[in-house]
Amino acid sequence: MFLPTLLLGIAASVSAAAAQAGDRLTTGNGNSTILNPMFPGFYPDPSCIYVPEWDKTFFCASSSFNAFPGIPIHASKDLHHWKLIGRALNRREQLPRLAHTNRSTSGIWAPTIRFHDDTFWVVTTLVDDDRPQADASRWDNIIFKSKDPYDPASWSVAVHFNYTGYDPDLFWDDDGKVYLTAAHAWQVGPYIEQAEVIDLDKGIIGEWRIIWNGTGGLAPEGPHIYRKDGWYYLLAAEGGTGMNHMVTIARSRNISGPYESNPANPVLTNANTTSMFQTVGHADLFQDGNGNWWAVALSTRSGPGYLHYPMGRETVLTTVRWPEGEWPTFTPIAGEISAWPTPLEDLNIRGVGPFVNHPPLATEHLTFPPNTPLPAHLTHWRFPISSSYTPSPPEKPNTLRLTPSRLNLTALNGNHAGPEGQTFISRRQQHTLFSFDVELEFVPNQAGEEAGVSAFLTQNHHLDMGVVLLPRREATGNWPGEEGQEAEEGKGEDLALHVRFRGVLLGIYATTNGGNGTTPAYFSNWRYTPLEQFRD
Ligand SMILES: *[C@@H]1O[C@H](CO)[C@@H](O)[C@H](O)[C@H]1NC(C)=O
Ligand SMILES: *[C@@H]1O[C@H](CO)[C@@H](O)[C@H](O)[C@H]1NC(C)=O
Ligand SMILES: *[C@@H]1O[C@H](CO)[C@@H](O)[C@H](O)[C@H]1NC(C)=O
Ligand SMILES: *[C@@H]1O[C@H](CO)[C@@H](O)[C@H](O)[C@H]1NC(C)=O
Ligand SMILES: *[C@@H]1O[C@H](CO)[C@@H](O)[C@H](O)[C@H]1NC(C)=O
Ligand SMILES: *[C@@H]1O[C@H](CO)[C@@H](O)[C@H](O)[C@H]1NC(C)=O
Ligand SMILES: *[C@@H]1O[C@H](CO)[C@@H](O)[C@H](O)[C@H]1NC(C)=O
Ligand SMILES: *[C@@H]1O[C@H](CO)[C@@H](O)[C@H](O)[C@H]1NC(C)=O
Repeated sequence: MFLPTLLLGIAASVSAAAAQAGDRLTTGNGNSTILNPMFPGFYPDPSCIYVPEWDKTFFCASSSFNAFPGIPIHASKDLHHWKLIGRALNRREQLPRLAHTNRSTSGIWAPTIRFHDDTFWVVTTLVDDDRPQADASRWDNIIFKSKDPYDPASWSVAVHFNYTGYDPDLFWDDDGKVYLTAAHAWQVGPYIEQAEVIDLDKGIIGEWRIIWNGTGGLAPEGPHIYRKDGWYYLLAAEGGTGMNHMVTIARSRNISGPYESNPANPVLTNANTTSMFQTVGHADLFQDGNGNWWAVALSTRSGPGYLHYPMGRETVLTTVRWPEGEWPTFTPIAGEISAWPTPLEDLNIRGVGPFVNHPPLATEHLTFPPNTPLPAHLTHWRFPISSSYTPSPPEKPNTLRLTPSRLNLTALNGNHAGPEGQTFISRRQQHTLFSFDVELEFVPNQAGEEAGVSAFLTQNHHLDMGVVLLPRREATGNWPGEEGQEAEEGKGEDLALHVRFRGVLLGIYATTNGGNGTTPAYFSNWRYTPLEQFRD
C-alpha cells in the first residue's frame, strides 16, 4: 500500500453565522465590554485571584480531568487578554496516580487557586470516577504550591489530605487560622463541610464539620469562603452542573456558622432562560485594583436546547456589585457584558503562551522547526511517553514524528490508558466554527497501523480520520456525543455526564491498534483556523 502525503482536516460548527466583534471594546461611558466566554473551550470550574504583589496580575486555574499537562494557569493584566503561563500539574512525579484513573470523567476536578504568604496555592481533587461515591479512595484531595507560577518546575508535588468529597477551597482567616471547605460526596450529602488546617505542608487537618446544606438544590458544591465587612461569605454551586446549575450564597459572623442563606438566592443562573449561555454556575469572586468585584463561572454554549455543545463547559466572566455590609449582586452571563472599567490594555505578560483568543481569529500554524520545543498549549490524554513525540526528527525536519502506541484512542475497557499511554497530542477546540488540518506522511506496513486526526471528546467519543492498514475494516467514528456511539459502547452510562464534563480536543494520533507495528507517522503544517465565535 503506497500513500503519498495526505491532507487531513476537520471543520465543525455548532451554529450558523455570527459576526466576531473585536476582542476588546470600550464604551463611551467609561465601562468596558467583556466578551464571553473569557476562556472558550474546555476550561471548566474556574477559580481566579488578583495579585497586586505580582505586577498587578490576575491568575486563573481550571479543571483538566485526564488532560496532561493539567490545571492550566492563565494570567492577565487587563482582564481581556489572557495568556497561558503554565500548568500546575506538569510532571508525572507530582501525581503519578493520574496514569491510572479510569473513565473520561475522572482526573482533576475544580481547582481553587489562592495567593498567601508569597506563595500560590492550588487545592483540588483527583477523582476516580468509577468508584462508589462514598468510597474514600475515589477522592484523592491534594495541594500544590508554587513560588513562581511562570516556572513549571516551581510547582510542588501533590500533598494529599483525607476527605471523602471534592471541590476544596482554601481560606486564611485574619487570625492566622487556615480552613479547607469542600463538598461532601453528594450521594451521601448534600453538605458543605469545613475543616481547620493543622499543617498545610503535610496535609494534616482537623475534623470536618457540616457548615451549610445549601438552599435545597441538588449537590451543593464548589464552595469558596470570603471575608468582607465582618461577615464570612460562603459561595456555592447547586443544582448539578447541567441546566439547573446556579450560584448561591450564605453568610455568617462566625466562620464555623451557622450560615444564613441570602433570601435572593440564586444570585447567578441562566436556568429557565433562552440564553445561548446555559449551565451557569461554579463561580469564584475576586476584586480588582480599583476595588471592583468580578466573578468567573462555568457555562455551556448550548442554548436552551442543551443538545450540541462540543466545547463543553467554558469559563465566563461577569461583574458583581457588592456594597459594604450587603449581599453581592451579579450581572447575568451573556456574550457581551457592560462591565466596570478594566485596566489599560497590557499584553506584557511573562510565560510561554499562547494568548487565549488573541489576536481574534488568527490561524495557529505549527511547523515543528528544529531545536524548538513543542508549543506549550499542546495537550495529551494522561501522561505521554515523551520519546513518542519528536519535533523535526533528523530524517524529516519540520515535521512532528509520532511513534505509535499499541492502544488506539479508545484504549482499554474502563478507558484506562495503561502504562504504554496513547500517542495523541492536541489543542482545545475554542471556536464555534473552525478548521483544523495537518499534512501526514505515513506508510503503514503492518495490519492495524493507523495515524490521523481526531476530534476527541472522550475515549468513547472521538471522531477520527486517518490512514489505516486494515483492509477488512472501514474507518469508523461518530461525531462526539452521538447517541449511536454511546449505544454501541453498550454500558448504559449517563450520556449527558460524558458530554457535559469536558470539551473537544483536536489532535493527531498514531496507533497500531494492538498490533506490533512500529511505523512512525510524520505530521506537518498543523493549522487551526478560527472562523467564528458564536456568542448570541
Ligand atoms: C482501571 O481499570 C483497569 C482495567 O480494568 C484496572 O486494571 C485498574 O486497576 C483501574 N484503575 C483504578 C485506579 O481503579
Ligand atoms: C487518611 O486515611 C487513611 C486511610 O483511612 C489513613 O490510613 C491515614 O492515616 C489518614 N491520614 C491522615 C493524615 O489522617
Ligand atoms: C445538614 O443536613 C444534615 C443531614 O440532614 C443535618 O444533620 C445537619 O444538621 C444540617 N446542617 C446544617 C448546617 O443545616
Ligand atoms: C464560632 O463557632 C464555633 C463553633 O460553634 C465556636 O466554638 C466559636 O467559639 C465561635 N467563635 C466565635 C468568635 O464566636
Ligand atoms: C427553573 O424552573 C423550574 C420550573 O419552574 C423550577 O423548578 C426551577 O427551580 C427553576 N430553576 C432555577 C435555577 O430557578
Ligand atoms: C457599567 O458596568 C456596571 C458593571 O457591570 C453595570 O452595573 C452598569 O450598568 C454599566 N453601565 C452602563 C451604562 O452600561
Ligand atoms: C482499538 O484497538 C483495539 C485493540 O487494542 C481493537 O480491538 C479495537 O477494534 C480498536 N478500535 C478501533 C476503533 O480501531
Ligand atoms: C506480536 O508479536 C507477538 C510476539 O512476537 C506475537 O505473539 C503476536 O502474535 C504478534 N501480534 C500481532 C497482532 O501480530
